[in-house]
Amino acid sequence: MSLHGLDLDRLPSHVACVMDGNGRWAQQRDLKRTDGHSAGEEALLDIVRGAVDLGVGWLTVYAFSTENWRRPSDEVRFLMKFNENLLLRRRDELDEMGVRIRFVGRRDWKVPKRLLRRMDESAAQTARNRKLTLTIAFNYGGQAEIVDAVRQIVASGVAPSSITEATIAKHLYDPEMPDVDLWIRTSGEHRTSNFLMWQSAYAELVFVETFWPDFRRTHLFEAIGEYQRRDRRFGGLNQND
Ligand code: IPE
Ligand code: IPE
Ligand code: MG
Repeated sequence: MSLHGLDLDRLPSHVACVMDGNGRWAQQRDLKRTDGHSAGEEALLDIVRGAVDLGVGWLTVYAFSTENWRRPSDEVRFLMKFNENLLLRRRDELDEMGVRIRFVGRRDWKVPKRLLRRMDESAAQTARNRKLTLTIAFNYGGQAEIVDAVRQIVASGVAPSSITEATIAKHLYDPEMPDVDLWIRTSGEHRTSNFLMWQSAYAELVFVETFWPDFRRTHLFEAIGEYQRRDRRFGGLNQND
């Protein structure tokens, strides 16, 4: 079966996306950087709809990194408020689409209580949905996630020799999250910026030039097309090799 020229039997189960380029999109238009963040909301909703239509099960988006606290305090304040309002504005619509909203990131560090409340409410409201799991990485860093996992593992007193990859995976922010198949970054930057470091060990990386506010489902479908042309080996060899 195919849709939009894509093989529906070989869809990535988990797509992760670094939503980057909001500031440059705004600067190009003589707007404020924060206008770029606002414009990114439509892009997010469009790729969520695209992922639901196609049947992708997991979509994780990078909304605020543990390093983004280094930005000017006005921009940080804007992003806290913007994300809080975005959840208020969009959670019913996402709920009706069958989207389960989840969050990964450091909860007990710097995030305003009001935003944490909106996050918890949105997750609770949509917990039974199964069409798409939309995970929002907020106050998230891949290294911080591994540090937090190691702290829990050490505190549990397990024998070092019994620790395996599975032990680490079980202590990540969302142990149910599958490994990333397709990892996308917009805006032409070619770096990971600490996004899903553990889960992306064997992800296919796709870098696109488009700034995030201009990113739409067609770009997502193109990235999935690129993914389907790749030869995934996981360290082994495929039948035709
Ligand atoms: C990504 O866009 C959004 C966040 C990091 C919150 P940027 O704000 O990084 O935009 P550029 O990279 O400066 O253009
Ligand atoms: C990564 O983008 C974080 C998010 C998109 C939320 P950044 O714009 O913060 O990354 P760097 O600073 O260019 O590496
Ligand atoms: Mg950026």
